[in-house]
Amino acid sequence: MANRQLSPLDHLVASADNALRTLAGKMTAAERESPAATVEGTALNDQERRHAAGLMRVNHSGEVCAQALYQGQSLTARLPRVRREMETAAAEEVDHLAWCEQRLQALDSHTSVLNPVWYTLSFGIGATAGLISDRLSLGFVAATEELVCQHLSHHLDDLPEQDLESRAVVSQMLTDEALHARKALEAGGLPFPPPAKKLMSLVSKVMTRASYRL
Ligand SMILES: [Fe+2]
Ligand SMILES: [Fe+2]
Repeated sequence: MANRQLSPLDHLVASADNALRTLAGKMTAAERESPAATVEGTALNDQERRHAAGLMRVNHSGEVCAQALYQGQSLTARLPRVRREMETAAAEEVDHLAWCEQRLQALDSHTSVLNPVWYTLSFGIGATAGLISDRLSLGFVAATEELVCQHLSHHLDDLPEQDLESRAVVSQMLTDEALHARKALEAGGLPFPPPAKKLMSLVSKVMTRASYRL
């Protein structure tokens, strides 16, 4: 069914369904195979494994936020075209979420207990941005994706050299997120001023530190 034919209640139900599946770790419907399946790294020692898991947990939390942000925006975006574009991007984020979940399991670790908090906050921000304007909403996507790209680049420097599986996942995510950022700006997103980006960066530092540990 075309998205514009859905009622507000349909959108709410779809959003609630997405929230539950995201937080329950049931996002297994990745369309693309995990890049981790294409490589084989050597064994990690305990310290390296814990560090890789901490970084992948941060990335997983980022993907939980992406789901929430896109869902919030699609609920309030005015133009059907913007709504459709956001839902396409959200679907692409499902791959990332599933890949991070799978990688955390392979590293014998867990997703962050704080994910419900991050989901709620991100959903609220996404919905509010969508209510204010579609251009702001798309601009927020672009600024967020740029920030995620910075994190992913740092993780490529920081992950254990021999953890080729995590590296493959992060590399593909970096490619995808850079494209999401570009598309959001091309679709009319407002470029965010440096002070706004700085504030977003400070908030994300708190979130990443907490998700790394918890
Ligand atoms: Fe993503
Ligand atoms: Fe993205």
